[in-house]
Amino acid sequence: MEAEVTLTPFSRTEVTLLRRWLAAPHVAVWYPDPEDHVEWAVNPPPSGERALIAVGSQPVGYVRWQSVSREILDSVGLHEIPAGSVDVDILIGDPDFVGHGIGPKALLVLLSKLCQRRDIPLVGLTTSVQNLSAQQAYTKAGFRILREYSPPGYGRCYLMVYSLNENA
Ligand SMILES: CC(C)(COP(=O)(O)OP(=O)(O)OC[C@H]1O[C@@H](n2cnc3c(N)ncnc32)[C@H](O)[C@@H]1OP(=O)(O)O)[C@@H](O)C(=O)NCCC(=O)NCCS
Repeated sequence: MEAEVTLTPFSRTEVTLLRRWLAAPHVAVWYPDPEDHVEWAVNPPPSGERALIAVGSQPVGYVRWQSVSREILDSVGLHEIPAGSVDVDILIGDPDFVGHGIGPKALLVLLSKLCQRRDIPLVGLTTSVQNLSAQQAYTKAGFRILREYSPPGYGRCYLMVYSLNENA
């Protein structure tokens, strides 16, 4: 894929597209509560942001990120993760665009954007221990497995992290 990977604004008109992506079999297997994601995308919390992932002018995926409070981190057992760290969630919804390195490129675009904020201790991604594609993709973007944990409803997962300070 030669075209540039960019993050472009998500607007409410993209909800239909997001719903279709969340229902695609390669995505649905990892997203047990798609409507929660749609609701979040329509009304993100104050500390949350989202974007479409585009290749050239074509939207192919979705990424959301959120600063996480001490309370939320403690509620899922991530006591050692500093408050204010950013949690990221990503999907390439169009199956024709999976496996072309677009996910890692989109993460690198997001990391360079987050780097400018200078107040983020850590960026984290949570993925099922069974989602080998995601683990491969996140590793390519510079994330490393910190440890395993089990957030409610998601089974055994890895927390993968990227330190903006270490990688600046
Ligand atoms: C996980 C995801 C974001 C990675 O983005 P991507 O652009 O596909 O990433 P890559 O192209 O680097 O591929 C990563 C790995 O996926 C695997 N892969 C390649 N083609 C694939 C395909 N058609 N289908 C599934 N996995 C594939 C390969 O193992 C690849 O690693 P490799 O290049 O070292 O062999 C994307 O695959 C996706 O959205 N998957 C479905 C939803 C999901 O799992 N979201 C993450 C939840 S934590």
